[in-house]
Parts: sequence; structure tokens; C-alpha cells
Amino acid sequence: MNDKIAVLLSGNGSNLKAIMNSGIKISFVASNNPNARGLNIAKEAGIFTFSSTNLSILEEQVLKLTLKYNVSLIVLAGFMRLLSKSFLKSLPEKFIINIHPSILPAFKGLNAIEQAIESCVQYTGVTVHYVDEGMDTGSIIEQKKVKIYKNDTKKSLQTRLKATEHCLYPETIKKILLKQLKNKNNL
Ligand code: GRF
Repeated sequence: MNDKIAVLLSGNGSNLKAIMNSGIKISFVASNNPNARGLNIAKEAGIFTFSSTNLSILEEQVLKLTLKYNVSLIVLAGFMRLLSKSFLKSLPEKFIINIHPSILPAFKGLNAIEQAIESCVQYTGVTVHYVDEGMDTGSIIEQKKVKIYKNDTKKSLQTRLKATEHCLYPETIKKILLKQLKNKNNL
């Protein structure tokens, strides 16, 4: 599959790493946080990166490069800003996806893991969804449940959720790219 994606992130970049390791090709990585560890992971792999703390400048650049490199999908991997209405409108429907550490619509927003632990539910999980104007409100693509054990801490549960994300995200991206390819070729 030769289709390329773009990744937007704000932090660690463990999902970026998992995507890179899965063989998916990445045109560029952008961040609102110049100190994001994920930017270094990309740079070390020779992937073009840029950052701006100004959201409109960042979006403008992302848009330009998305068109220039004919990017097939924008992937948010721990990107901590809401994208603007005008940015979303300038791209096709179902062009941006996100991963969230809960079974949406439960536990939207920040602190999804703490919210799940505090609610004493038996399961939480991971959701991949399309991005719309809201916070974690776009239509759901894939979900995977993760059990919460009685002695789980935020850290222990987060470790299992991340491991789940690292499989589910690349897998889902590949499925979407394949579907796009089939649609393009009318298969
Ligand atoms: C992940 O838990 C993801 O679900 C959330 O942000 C976190 C990013 O982690 N949206 P990383 O930077 O990929 O390690």
C-alpha cells in the first residue's frame, strides 16, 4: 500500500511509533507542542516534522502539505487541541481520525482513564473514531474492550490500554486505506 498519512500529536508519540513499525508510510508529523517527544521519534526516522503553538498557523501548514503530498488520511495520535471548523470544512468527510482511551461515548475528553476507574465499571477500552467539531464525538470506526481489575491503578490500566491502542490503531488505519483504494479503483 503506497498511500501516505499525516500524523498530528502533542506528546509522547507511542502510537506514532506503533504506526511507523507497522509499515504505514507517513508524509509528515505536525505538533502544537515544539517539545513533543513524538517529533523526535519522527525526525530520527527521517520523517518531515513541523510545529507551531498557534493553531491557525499549524492548520494552514497541515492543509498545504496534505495537498502537496497527496495525503490520504490525517491521523491524530495524542493531539491535544480541537481542530477548527474551517480546517475541518476544507478537507473531505471522514479524512481525519482519532484514538481515545475509552469505549465512547463513555468517558469523553481528558482523564478518560481516571473517569473509568472512578466509575467502578468492569470494562473500559479504546475507540478509533472520525473527527468532527466536538470533543470525541465523531462517528465510531472500531472499538476494543479492556478489563479493569480491582487493583488497577491509572498506570497499570493505561499500560494495557496503550498496548491495545498500538495494535488497534495501525490495523484500523490499514483497513481505511485499503477501503479508500478499493473505492478509488471501483473494486
Ligand atoms: C493515547 O492514549 C490516545 O488514546 C490519546 O492520547 C494518548 C497518546 O499517547 N488520544 P501517545 O502520545 O501515542 O503515547
